[in-house]
Amino acid sequence: MLRYSFLTRIIGFSSLALAGPLTIKQHSIQWINCSSNIPQPLQGVALPCTLPSTLHCGKIDVPMDYTKPIGPDNMISLGFSMYRPEKPIGLINFFGLGGPNAETASYGWALALNLTQAAPLAGLENFDVLALDSRGTFQSNALNCTIGDYVVPPSFPSNEAEFSAYQAAVTKFANSCSTQTKPEGILAHLSTNEAIQDWDLLRAALGYDTMHALTWSYGTFGAVKYAKMFPKNVGRFVLDGIIPPGLDNFNLVDQQIVAVNRLLLRADAFCINDAACPFHTAGKGSVPQAFNTILDRAIAGDYPNITSDDVRAMVYLAYLSSSPNFTALNGVLAAALNNDTTGLTYSAFGPIYTPGFLPVLQTICLDQTLQNNTFAGFDSLRQRISQNDTAQIQYSQILSLMGLCGGWPYKAKSNVALKTDIPMLLLTSDFDLNTPTEGSTFEFQQTSKSTLVVRHGDGHVTSLIPGPARSAAFSFLTTGVFPTATNQSLVSVFPPGTPRDPISDPYVVPIGPNVTTAEV
Ligand SMILES: *[C@@H]1O[C@H](CO)[C@@H](O)[C@H](O)[C@H]1NC(C)=O
Ligand SMILES: *[C@@H]1O[C@H](CO)[C@@H](O)[C@H](O)[C@H]1NC(C)=O
Ligand SMILES: *[C@@H]1O[C@H](CO)[C@@H](O)[C@H](O)[C@H]1NC(C)=O
Ligand SMILES: *[C@@H]1O[C@H](CO)[C@@H](O)[C@H](O)[C@H]1NC(C)=O
Ligand SMILES: *[C@@H]1O[C@H](CO)[C@@H](O)[C@H](O)[C@H]1NC(C)=O
Ligand SMILES: *[C@@H]1O[C@H](CO)[C@@H](O)[C@H](O)[C@H]1NC(C)=O
Ligand SMILES: *[C@@H]1O[C@H](CO)[C@@H](O)[C@H](O)[C@H]1NC(C)=O
Ligand SMILES: *[C@@H]1O[C@H](CO)[C@@H](O)[C@H](O)[C@H]1NC(C)=O
Ligand SMILES: *[C@@H]1O[C@H](CO)[C@@H](O)[C@H](O)[C@H]1NC(C)=O
Ligand SMILES: *[C@@H]1O[C@H](CO)[C@@H](O)[C@H](O)[C@H]1NC(C)=O
Repeated sequence: MLRYSFLTRIIGFSSLALAGPLTIKQHSIQWINCSSNIPQPLQGVALPCTLPSTLHCGKIDVPMDYTKPIGPDNMISLGFSMYRPEKPIGLINFFGLGGPNAETASYGWALALNLTQAAPLAGLENFDVLALDSRGTFQSNALNCTIGDYVVPPSFPSNEAEFSAYQAAVTKFANSCSTQTKPEGILAHLSTNEAIQDWDLLRAALGYDTMHALTWSYGTFGAVKYAKMFPKNVGRFVLDGIIPPGLDNFNLVDQQIVAVNRLLLRADAFCINDAACPFHTAGKGSVPQAFNTILDRAIAGDYPNITSDDVRAMVYLAYLSSSPNFTALNGVLAAALNNDTTGLTYSAFGPIYTPGFLPVLQTICLDQTLQNNTFAGFDSLRQRISQNDTAQIQYSQILSLMGLCGGWPYKAKSNVALKTDIPMLLLTSDFDLNTPTEGSTFEFQQTSKSTLVVRHGDGHVTSLIPGPARSAAFSFLTTGVFPTATNQSLVSVFPPGTPRDPISDPYVVPIGPNVTTAEV
């Protein structure tokens, strides 16, 4: 999973809300033939001649700009698929892999066809499940952008000129989207504030008073906003791998720096329990030490093919983000000590990473406020985060976004915390890098009636990982019953208003090749 899949706004709610009734009669679904509307990930995949009767595909026209009535110049067409059993017991909005802007419509297909891709959704078969591509992506008026030979650099700008160049590349990319995409002006209307109004129009068009939601990663940002804007329409909301509204620039980056340092210790703990780890006999601390040695050698120019920035970006992006691969990381560090730096070479990775990463900008840059978009501001942010950066990893995906979004032509107006007393189920894992667990604690504090499930383990998004935490979430979705307080080795549950325990020690939570995350 190379997608950014994570992170994650407030403008004139009252004026936005007013636009709804004016245009409501236009918001009817056009059901279309699925065979002629195959989602991109399934194109070229062998599909049955007769598609299952549970699979439905649709389009709906919505305003591009919700502050104005829908019309020929103010309309975009959203595309979605649905899994629809004969007698659905409710509607679940499944917000894909987050991203934002990861492909989603294929999940309705995957559920109806029982493809392996839908395995994480197993258990939801009695619901109408909506899988909507976010505005500006895939079946929903996709932007047409040109990447050319641009590669997101592994390094951060270290002077004014580099800062300008860093941002100019993004401006150029955005301009290509802008000139090549209709309707004109769409780039200004791809924020999460707008996406959640799309969700609500679909809910109404499908004839539901309330909507449940299974949101992953960046989708959680929308879930919180939706709950605040449409409180009456909220059913059972699961927020898994949370990026909450209201964290400032420093905290967002600081938390990722702390999280990546924790993960390096998890790699070390894994090694202690892995007889095949190259540093196994060297004992505790050997993995951070190897990283440190490699970094020093890279800084000294010992490696002909990689820089210290390659080491930092690769360890972060290729081995520790999303689903960390500690076996791979430990192997790559050992190889680099032996002068083989193949696994740390960003030049091979960057061109694959870039096209998956860039689509997040069109929404994140409209959602996350930049508090100081100057080189001096960016650089001082980097200085400030170094205090918690024990291993001097220095790389953070959110930090790169903050630099890059400065070059995006549209900016967020504000990003404030949203308090709500709607009860929701929040999920996190101790060692998530994409959406560090501190963000979930923060959201838990904003939502006085929510329950927090902490999975003691690694990786981003718990619904993907079978075990007691996932089971608690799916049980809530299907029954509406919140899990009660528990404190086990693989999961803890904190009821509304209780304090969360400190984040687990990386060496104490079970880990290693022989540890299974299955039910305990
Ligand atoms: C849907 O499209 C397929 C292929 O384009 C066609 O074979 C099928 O008859 C169509 N189904 C309906 C109900 O129109
Ligand atoms: C879906 O696939 C899984 C495993 O591939 C299988 O166990 C299950 O029975 C299938 N479900 C249906 C409804 O066919
Ligand atoms: C995207 O824009 C380019 C340049 O104008 C054009 O050649 C291409 O056909 C467009 N692609 C799509 C899918 O519209
Ligand atoms: C970073 O360090 C400061 C000072 O020690 C501390 O107050 C803060 O909580 C740390 N940040 C995180 C995310 O732990
Ligand atoms: C550097 O890269 C070149 C070209 O890929 C390769 O032939 C060489 O072995 C590499 N050197 C090291 C020390 O990894
Ligand atoms: C993790 O890395 C190892 C070694 O490179 C590889 O064999 C394995 O397939 C990877 N695991 C996953 C889940 O990708
Ligand atoms: C790695 O390369 C350095 C020179 O850059 C050399 O001194 C050292 O012996 C090499 N180590 C191994 C294990 O080959
Ligand atoms: C941005 O940050 C720099 C460095 O801390 C500071 O000198 C400058 O005043 C800040 N600018 C704004 C607009 O806050
Ligand atoms: C959960 O267990 C841990 C370790 O066993 C302990 O430190 C912690 O205080 C417990 N938390 C609660 C809420 O009981
Ligand atoms: C882990 O599993 C492997 C393979 O099943 C086995 O050989 C090894 O003894 C196990 N190690 C521990 C510590 O249980």
